[in-house]
Amino acid sequence: MRGEEIILEVQNLSKVYDKEVLKLEKFSFQRGKIYGIIGPSGAGKSTFLRLLNLLEPPTTGSIYFKGKAVSMNGDAALAVRREMTMVFQKPLLFRSSVSENVAYGLKARRFPKEKTQERVEILLAKVGLKGFANRNAGTLSGGEAQRVALARAVAFEPALLLLDEPTANLDPSNVELIERLILDLNRETGMTFIMVTHNIFQARRIAQEVVFLHEGRIVEVGETEKIFTDPQDQRTRDFVEGRMIY
Ligand SMILES: Nc1ncnc2c1ncn2[C@@H]1O[C@H](COP(=O)(O)OP(=O)(O)OP(=O)(O)O)[C@@H](O)[C@H]1O
Ligand SMILES: [Mg+2]
Repeated sequence: MRGEEIILEVQNLSKVYDKEVLKLEKFSFQRGKIYGIIGPSGAGKSTFLRLLNLLEPPTTGSIYFKGKAVSMNGDAALAVRREMTMVFQKPLLFRSSVSENVAYGLKARRFPKEKTQERVEILLAKVGLKGFANRNAGTLSGGEAQRVALARAVAFEPALLLLDEPTANLDPSNVELIERLILDLNRETGMTFIMVTHNIFQARRIAQEVVFLHEGRIVEVGETEKIFTDPQDQRTRDFVEGRMIY
C-alpha cells in the first residue's frame, strides 16, 4: 500500500568530524510522503541529507535504499543516484542555456533525444518559466535559478528528492511556487520528498511527517499537526513555539 513501503532507512548512522555531529539509531522514510526535517542551526540536518544522498560516507552505520544497503562507492550507488536527486539552497547551474540545464538530468538517464525538447518545455511551464529555454542560466534571478534547478532535478521523476533549504533565499511568490510544485509532484507522481527547512511554517504547510533534529539526534518524529500542536518532548515544544533560539 502506498505510504507503507519503506524507501530509505538508516541504521546506527553516525558522522564524526571534529566531534560527533549526527547519531541516529534507526529511522525509515516511507515512499510517497513529504518529510520535513527541522531543528536548530548545527543540529546536523544538512549532514544527514549529505549522508542520505551518498555525498559523504557515514562514520558508522548503514543506509538502505529500497531494502538494499548502499554506500558511496558500492555498485548500488549508481542505481540509487538515478532514483534520488538533491536540490541545494544555492542552485548549482551550468553556464549554458536553461534548456540544456533542464535536459541534463534527462541526458544522463538516456531519455529519448527526440522527446527531450518537449519534456523540457513541459517542465519549464510547470515551474512558471515558459519562454526561458534559451536564456543563459547565468542571467537568472535567484528564484528563477532555483526553479530551473528544481525542474532539472525532477525531470526524470526520481523516486526521491532531497531538498536542503530550497527556498531560504527566495521571496514569498517563489516560495509559494516551489511549495506548490512539491505538493503537485507528490500528489501526481507519488514522489517522496525529504526537505530540510529552517522555516517551521513551511514544514507545517507542506510536510506530512516532521522530524525534529537536535544536537545530532532525532528527538521526535510525528505527523505534522501533532508535532506542532501536541509535541511530546519539551525541546520540540520549545522549538516549534519559537522559544529555542536558532
Ligand atoms: N565538513 C565539516 N567539517 C567539520 N565540521 C562540520 C563539517 N560539516 C558540518 N560540520 C559541523 O557539523 C555540525 C552540523 O552541521 P550541519 O551543517 O549538518 O547543520 P545544520 O543542521 O544543517 O545547520 P544549519 O541550519 O545552520 O544549516 C555543525 O556543528 C557543523 O559545524
Ligand atoms: Mg544546513
